[in-house]
Amino acid sequence: MAVNLRGKSYLKLLDFTPAEIRYLLDLSKDFKSMKRSGVPHKYLDGKNIVLLFEKTSTRTRCSFEVAGRDLGMGVTYLDPGSSQMGKKESIPDTARVLGRMYDGIEYRGYSQQLVEELARYSGVPVWNGLTDQFHPTQMLADLLTIEEKLGRLKGINFTYMGDARNNMGNSLMVACAKMGLNFTACAPKALFPAQELVDTCRAIAAENGCTVTLTEDVKEGTANADVIYTDIWVSMGEPEGVWAERISLLTPYQVNAAVMANARDTAIFMHCLPSFHDTRTTIGADIAKKFDISEMEVTDEVFESKQSVVFDEAENRMHTIKAVMYATLC
Ligand code: CP
Ligand code: NVA
Repeated sequence: MAVNLRGKSYLKLLDFTPAEIRYLLDLSKDFKSMKRSGVPHKYLDGKNIVLLFEKTSTRTRCSFEVAGRDLGMGVTYLDPGSSQMGKKESIPDTARVLGRMYDGIEYRGYSQQLVEELARYSGVPVWNGLTDQFHPTQMLADLLTIEEKLGRLKGINFTYMGDARNNMGNSLMVACAKMGLNFTACAPKALFPAQELVDTCRAIAAENGCTVTLTEDVKEGTANADVIYTDIWVSMGEPEGVWAERISLLTPYQVNAAVMANARDTAIFMHCLPSFHDTRTTIGADIAKKFDISEMEVTDEVFESKQSVVFDEAENRMHTIKAVMYATLC
């Protein structure tokens, strides 16, 4: 059956079928090759989008801005604190105002409920640029990168190490289950994803011929992995006070040379970024001083190694976000 996503919001991958995700990935490849060969693609000339960021961003914001302009659209950026949203104007009211002026709305913030509410009231497609629960635009970039580097998605052994119940852990589990990758969360039990989401993903995985595994055992969790993926240990919006506990829980799950050696020889290392792989950031330097550690979720050695594909992954954010906007607005 033909895929038609026109008018649909992109809020979480659970709302999309494998065929729809496949379509978005193929469209991303087309846009990537047009961009690389300098073929203009202003297919959405005359449309306008607004980007609402209640949390900071480099990749997501720049991807929406560049992709929007490449497609010929006008782009408005509203940073945290520079709109009335939430403080003086409710989400339903904000959504109805923006929906009168814009053809599409991107939202990055805290609750998943809020982005769902924006979509319910705005009357135009809403794209989730990250909430505490999900990060669905990142998923397309990650799937595209895996397919480019390893030649396929189905049957790939994917291991996620770290906070497996944050937005990245949740989203990657869903993405793998939908697209036929065997997902393993390798994490301390305290940071396993919610059982309800695990059950949902196991049911989806069963339909797509793959598995969802949770383990605390690093050797077991990383053996035969084709992809080793990690994320920062403390996510945006979490209190400072959680650092000490998180460092003690997650240090055994750091991606280092021993982890990569235990995975397949052809394994790649992935990270949504930003990453604390050295002390060249203010937070990295501060943590180094307080806890005497110079690397966190991944060692600098692995981050800078040939197996690391993190910057290809970052570039793919833009091509895939372009595909999402085009598919839902065309
Ligand atoms: N990966 C990602 O979403 O990066 P930003 O926080 O820079 O947007
Ligand atoms: N888990 C991270 C992802 C950043 C892209 C965060 O929410 O800060």
